[in-house]
Amino acid sequence: MLKILVFGADGQIGRSLSARASSDLEVISLGRNDADLGVAEHCAAHIRRADVDAVINAAAYTDVNAAENNEVLATQINGLTPGVMARACAERDLPFLQISTDYVFDGSGTRAFAPEASPNPINAYGRSKKIGEDLVRAAKGKSAILRTSWVFSEHGTNFVKTMLNLAETQSSLSIVGDQVGGPTPAIEVADALVIMARAMVAGHPGGIFHFAGEPVVSWAEFAREIFSQAGKHTDVSIVASADFPSVAKRPLNSRLECASFTKGFGRPLPDWHLDLKRVIKVLERG
Ligand SMILES: NC(=O)c1ccc[n+]([C@@H]2O[C@H](COP(=O)([O-])OP(=O)(O)OC[C@H]3O[C@@H](n4cnc5c(N)ncnc54)[C@H](OP(=O)(O)O)[C@@H]3O)[C@@H](O)[C@H]2O)c1
Repeated sequence: MLKILVFGADGQIGRSLSARASSDLEVISLGRNDADLGVAEHCAAHIRRADVDAVINAAAYTDVNAAENNEVLATQINGLTPGVMARACAERDLPFLQISTDYVFDGSGTRAFAPEASPNPINAYGRSKKIGEDLVRAAKGKSAILRTSWVFSEHGTNFVKTMLNLAETQSSLSIVGDQVGGPTPAIEVADALVIMARAMVAGHPGGIFHFAGEPVVSWAEFAREIFSQAGKHTDVSIVASADFPSVAKRPLNSRLECASFTKGFGRPLPDWHLDLKRVIKVLERG
């Protein structure tokens, strides 16, 4: 039996981790009301008294646009507090798993970013997540950083739910076609984290890993597939990011090189089409 403590219980990945609880996996989940990452010491106190084998931080300030005007708060939640949590884990020799993002990269070029590529974030959210990565590693405990991209699920706010909501009222939409990445089902990220936690409890040293769904697509292609699978007739016209102003700059190339994850943990990458079908069915049932 593996016992994990999860911060961010009510987010997409937090909820997916809880859904994975089984006779072999106990998940103790803390939501924002139990543990506010704005108050680092409260989070560390939870870790010091928890009777668990590993800690997963699935909480984050994830509003990329809002982070531009709230960088201090985003940095506390995504950067400084994960560092304090990692130190609390290190004191107890507990594995600590931090989720990070393709947004730590600048999105230049067309090749997939390897885990050892140099981060160079181009927005406040990316900067705050990079600080989290740096501080987690500096804690010198047993830690792992799992970077993922374009997470979707039936929970919370995500691109799939936004597109399906827009399709209720719009017959055509303009979607960017020059940002590409791997849409990733939250439930698959949860599985990947559990696999990593089990391995680390058994002695795996951790490190930085990438995990993203396949195949890589543009947002416009992803939107078309969502509408196709959901039987919606919304037209998608492609626009360039430059013509689609957003508060935060977004990386054009979000490809993640995931080979060290698949080889190291013996788990293939998910084809996102399959979970998209499941998510749409769940949402249709209401
Ligand atoms: N979503 C993506 O496309 C994506 C892509 C790459 C990486 N990631 C990373 O994946 C992880 C999980 O993301 P997600 O998609 O599951 O995000 P999410 O659905 O937005 O969940 C984040 C959770 O963090 C909680 N939270 C925010 N501020 C908090 C605070 N001060 N104290 C405690 N909890 C707080 C939120 O609570 P409330 O519910 O109360 O707001 C929410 O439940 C994050 O590390 C994110 O950076 C996400």
